[in-house]
Amino acid sequence: MKKIFSFFLLLIFPVLIIFYACSSPTAPTAISKEDSIQHLWDRGNYLVHSVVNCVDCHSKLDFNKFSFPMVPGTEGMGGFAVHELMDDIPGKIFIPNITPYALKDWTDEEIARAMTRGINKRGDTLFPMMPYHGLSHMAKSDVDAVITYLRKLKPIANDVPPHQLFVPASVFGPLPDNDYHNNTLPDTTDAVKYGQYLVSIAHCTDCHTQFTKEGAPDMTKYLAGGQHFKLPTFEVTVANITPDKETGIGAWTEDMFLAKFRTNASAETVNADHGKFGTLMPWTFFGTMRDKDLKAIYAYLRTIPPVNNKIDKWGIAKN
Ligand code: HEC
Ligand code: HEC
Repeated sequence: MKKIFSFFLLLIFPVLIIFYACSSPTAPTAISKEDSIQHLWDRGNYLVHSVVNCVDCHSKLDFNKFSFPMVPGTEGMGGFAVHELMDDIPGKIFIPNITPYALKDWTDEEIARAMTRGINKRGDTLFPMMPYHGLSHMAKSDVDAVITYLRKLKPIANDVPPHQLFVPASVFGPLPDNDYHNNTLPDTTDAVKYGQYLVSIAHCTDCHTQFTKEGAPDMTKYLAGGQHFKLPTFEVTVANITPDKETGIGAWTEDMFLAKFRTNASAETVNADHGKFGTLMPWTFFGTMRDKDLKAIYAYLRTIPPVNNKIDKWGIAKN
């Protein structure tokens, strides 16, 4: 008994001392620099892999698998020739290397400008496949988090040629002109507001909204699907994710919504032979989003106007 007691004292004593030290007014309360960098890195890691999916485009992808997962170890190296996969690109677009090998001479402001304004270090306007329209809404703290994460990526020696556009950059419409320094993170406990924020930085609209002839998203059909992608091994039409009960996802419960993301990101689905039912929807990235964030996206999607727009995703109905 005595032994147990002294053991208990041995344990509780340091705890009490620490407790006292922490609660005493002279104890340091500020978070250390390392802690705040770690916090930014964690947030950046999450955004880069699960929400904005920088590494969905800027890495090597496995085109033999459902939803094109990332090839491990290629994070950020770029190099892919987009025009070889898609036939409607007005020129040659190569995905840039965004590891420190390529960005070491860029300042944080130059990286932030490429992300949020669509202009790179050389002053070139970037092809809007780079989702800078969505990223122009990114909170400053999240831009900082992404940059902190990129700075610590493994440098991969891969020299990527610059783009060669056969049309003037002005045909892509005006560049975003809001200053990201003024963007703040919405209240993350307000599901609808936070969901709207996630939908904009995750650039759902780049695929899920059709474009007008002038090249702007057609907001009368916001997120109602209809863009058609033709790839070498399959063709797919983007789904309607408005709350229309008949042609959108209005009849989906929150559980069904989450389950779709988890199932489509599971090894079983990704590795199964998907035949012609391939997709560009980045399920393997979005499928790792936290429950809370997917629920916020669901909550926001319930609030947008329902649009009746029937989509047959693969032209041979399979859901
Ligand atoms: C949907 C694909 C896609 C996603 C997602 C994406 N990018 Fe890009 N990014 C591109 C393409 C394509 C270019 C090149 C466009 C061009 O050359 O005109 C580019 C260019 C860039 C550049 C400029 C590099 C240079 O050398 O000019 C930076 C920096 C960059 N991206 C960072 C990011 C970051 C950070 C993220 C995530 C927050 C991200 N990208 C997400 C496709 C993407
Ligand atoms: C790179 C293009 C692309 C992006 C970005 C994208 N999607 Fe998709 N999405 C698709 C395509 C293509 C389909 C249809 C094929 C499929 O179901 O995989 C689809 C299907 C879906 C479906 C299934 C709907 C149904 O009827 O089965 C949901 C839900 C969805 N997307 C939600 C989202 C959300 C939310 C975002 C943003 C966080 C998003 N998507 C971003 C291309 C995209």
